[in-house]
Amino acid sequence: MNKAKSFFIKSFGCQMNVYDSNKMKDIFVSHGMQSTNYYQDADYIVLNTCHIREKATEKTYSDLGRVHKKGKNDHKIIVAGCVAQAEGELIQQRAPYVDLVLGPQSLQLLDTYLSDKNSNLKTMTEFDAIDKFDTLKRFKSHTDSKSSFVTIQEGCDKFCTFCVVPYTRGSEYSRSIPDIIEEVKKLSELGVIEVTLLGQNVNAYHGPDVSGKERGLSYLINKISELDKIKRITYSTSHPNNMTDDLIELHGTNSKLMSCLHLPVQSGSNKILKLMNRKHTREFYFEVIDKLRKHKSNIALSSDFIVGFPEEDDKDFQDTMDLIHHVGFMNSYSFKYSPRPGTPAADREQIPLKIQDDRLKIMQTTLDQQQIDFNKKFLSKRLDVLISSSGKFKGQVKGKSEFNQSVAIPGNPNIIGDIVPVQITDISVHSLIGKAEV
Ligand code: SAH
Ligand code: SF4
Ligand code: F3S
Repeated sequence: MNKAKSFFIKSFGCQMNVYDSNKMKDIFVSHGMQSTNYYQDADYIVLNTCHIREKATEKTYSDLGRVHKKGKNDHKIIVAGCVAQAEGELIQQRAPYVDLVLGPQSLQLLDTYLSDKNSNLKTMTEFDAIDKFDTLKRFKSHTDSKSSFVTIQEGCDKFCTFCVVPYTRGSEYSRSIPDIIEEVKKLSELGVIEVTLLGQNVNAYHGPDVSGKERGLSYLINKISELDKIKRITYSTSHPNNMTDDLIELHGTNSKLMSCLHLPVQSGSNKILKLMNRKHTREFYFEVIDKLRKHKSNIALSSDFIVGFPEEDDKDFQDTMDLIHHVGFMNSYSFKYSPRPGTPAADREQIPLKIQDDRLKIMQTTLDQQQIDFNKKFLSKRLDVLISSSGKFKGQVKGKSEFNQSVAIPGNPNIIGDIVPVQITDISVHSLIGKAEV
C-alpha cells in the first residue's frame, strides 16, 4: 500500500493566519494526507506568511531557502498568506522553486491544486472572500482543542498610514450570521467550548442575519451565546472607533463574554494619531475606556503600540507613556515602526534607529511592570481557568483565565477540557501558576 502523502504548515503573523492554516489543514486531510511536524519529511510544505513588518517578510525568504535546501527531494512548496498577496511575482523571482503562491482570499484554491496533478495554478491572488468562505465550509473541521478561532470578518477599509493589511487582505467583508453560527455549532460538537471571533476590524462586523437584515457584533455574540455548549466568547482585533455603545454595554450583560479586550491605540499623541490616519484622539480612547469600565469594572485591557513613527518627538512619546500610565494595561504588544512598501508613511523621514530602540525599551519596561502588577492581584486568589492542553513541563496542564492570562497547573490531565477553579500560587510577567481545586 502506498504511504499517505504528508504536509507541513508553518503559520506566521496573526491569529487570522492560524485560522487560515487550520483550514488548509482541513483541505489536505480531505485529500487523505497526514500532517507532519517536520518539513524534512513533508511532500507539501506550506509557509503561511505575514507582511506586517519588514522582519516578518524577510523571515519568509530565509525560511524558503532553508526548506528548499533541506526538504525532501520531490517536495512541493506553497507560499500562502500576506507576503504571497503583496509580493507574489517577486516570490517567483526570488525563489523560482516555489510551486504555488496563494493570497489569503485564494487559499481555497489549494483544493483545486491538489485535485489536479497537472494544475497550472501558479500565483493566485484574487480577492474573493465570498468564494473563500463558501468553499471552505465544505471541508470537515478537525480540532482536538477546546478553544477555537473563527474568522467572522476579513480585510480592512481604514488605511492607517503605516499598515499593509488593507492591501494584503482586501476590503472589509463580513460573513453571514447563519454561516458563522453553523461553523461554531460544528466546532462545539467537536468539543470546543471557547471561541475567539476574528477580524482585522472585528468590531466593524456588519453581517446579514437569517432574514438578510444587517447586524452588528453585539447581536452576533448574543446569538452565539445561545449555544449551550459554548461557555466563553471573545473577539479580536477591535478599533476604538467601532466600540459602539451596544457592544460596550454587552460587556456588562453577557456573562459568556470574557473579561478582557484587545483595543489597540498605537500612540497616545494626537499629532501622531492624525499622521497615522487613526481618525480618533487620545481623549476619545479614554472615553471608550471609561465607558467600558462603567459597564465592566474589572475588564482587562491590552493594546498595540508603535514607537518611532515618523515625526514622533520626545513630547509625543511622553504622551504615549502618559496614556499607558493613565489606562493601565494587563498585556500589550509594542513594535518599532517598520516602513512598508506602498504605504504612505514609508516615504516620510524616518526616526533614527537608536531613538526607536531607546523608546521601545522604556515602553516595554513599563508594560511588563503593568503586566506583573496586574498578575500580582491574583496571588492567593481563585480564578476560573479553561484547561486546554498539557503544559510545557511534564505532569503539567495549562489553560487560560477569563482575563486571557496563561495559567500552568501541576498534575491532573483528566481536567483537560473543563473550566475549573484554580488557586494562584505564583506569578511571572507572562503567566501564572496555580493549584486546581477539583
Ligand atoms: N487591525 C489591528 C492591527 C493589525 S496589525 C488594528 O487596527 O489595531 C497588528 C499590529 O501590528 C498593529 O496594531 C500595529 O501595532 C502593528 N503594526 C502594523 N503595521 C506596522 C508597521 N508598519 N510597523 C510596526 N508595527 C506595525
Ligand atoms: Fe491596519 Fe489600521 Fe486596518 Fe488595523 S485598522 S488593519 S492598523 S489599516
Ligand atoms: Fe500579518 Fe497578514 Fe496578519 S500581514 S498580521 S498575517 S493580516
